[in-house]
Amino acid sequence: MRLLDLHLRAKGVLKSAGVEDYAFEAGLLLEHFFGIKPYRLAVNAEICADEEIVPSFERALEKRAGGYPLQYILGKWEFYGLPFYVGEGVLIPRPDTETLVEAAMELSGENPMIIDLCSGSGCIAVALEKNIKGAKVFAVEFSKAAFSYLERNIELNSSKVVPVLGDVLDEELLDGFEAADMIVSNPPYLSDEDMQNLQREVGFEPETALFGGGDGMDFYRRISALWKKKLKSGGHMLFEVGIGQAGQVCNILKSEGFSEIEAKKDLNGIARVVFGKYL
Ligand SMILES: C[S@@+](CC[C@H](N)C(=O)[O-])C[C@H]1O[C@@H](n2cnc3c(N)ncnc32)[C@H](O)[C@@H]1O
Repeated sequence: MRLLDLHLRAKGVLKSAGVEDYAFEAGLLLEHFFGIKPYRLAVNAEICADEEIVPSFERALEKRAGGYPLQYILGKWEFYGLPFYVGEGVLIPRPDTETLVEAAMELSGENPMIIDLCSGSGCIAVALEKNIKGAKVFAVEFSKAAFSYLERNIELNSSKVVPVLGDVLDEELLDGFEAADMIVSNPPYLSDEDMQNLQREVGFEPETALFGGGDGMDFYRRISALWKKKLKSGGHMLFEVGIGQAGQVCNILKSEGFSEIEAKKDLNGIARVVFGKYL
C-alpha cells in the first residue's frame, strides 16, 4: 500500500470526524508510525507502507476519529520548546500555559526558589528550571499516574526539578518547604457548568486535573490562603486562570492580603495569568 494513499485516507477520515486540523494531524500520525514526513510523498509518491505497521496506524486513526487526543497517541508533546511525555492520567500541556511561564520569568530575579503546585506533567516546573538562572524548583503533584510522568519528564529534560508527591490542600505538606520567592500554579479550574460542556478530547483527560469545585474557584481560594505562608516577604504567587476568571481570582488574592495584583493576557488577548505580591 502506498503511503500517499494512506495519508489521503487518514485526512479524509479525520475530516469527516470533525477534527479541525485534520491535515496537520494526519501528517503527524503518518510521521509517528512510518517515520516519514508527508512532504516527502509529494516528491516520491511510490513509497510504500510497512504492512506490519498499517494495522496499528489504522487503530490509532480510528481512536483519533473517536475523539481520543492526538497527544496521547503520539506519547510526547512540546511545551516551551521542550519535550514532555504525555498519556492517560496526565493533563496535556497547553500553549496558553506558556503565558504563566513568561510571567514568572519576567518577575524572577536570579537564583529564585520556586514551588509549582499541581504540577502534572511538570511542564511549568521544568520550563522554569531550564530558563531561569540558578532556579531551585519544587514540583508538587498528588496523582500517582501524573507523578510518574512528572518524574520521567524531569529525567527526559535532564532537569534538576525536585518532584514531591503530595496534596497541595494538606496543610502539613507545607512544613517540608522552605520559603519561596515564587509560587506558581495551574490548578484544576473548571466549574460544574464547564464540566457539562467539555470538548470531546478533554473528556479523555483526568477529571482530577480539570474540576475546580462548583464555581471552579476552590483551588485558588485554598492555595492562596494556605501557601502565602510559604512566600518570602515580597514574594509572588502566580496562577493560570480560565477564560473569564481573572476578576474573581484578583479578588481572592486581594482578600488574602496580596498587593500589586495584575493580570497578564495570552496571545489571544485573554486574561490568562493573575499574580500578586505578598509582603
Ligand atoms: C490543570 S492540571 C495542570 C497540570 C500542569 N501544571 C499543566 O499546566 O499542564 C492540574 C493538576 O493538579 C493535580 N491536582 C489536583 N488536585 C491536587 C491536589 N490536591 N494536590 C496536588 N495536585 C493536585 C492534578 O492531578 C493535575 O495534574
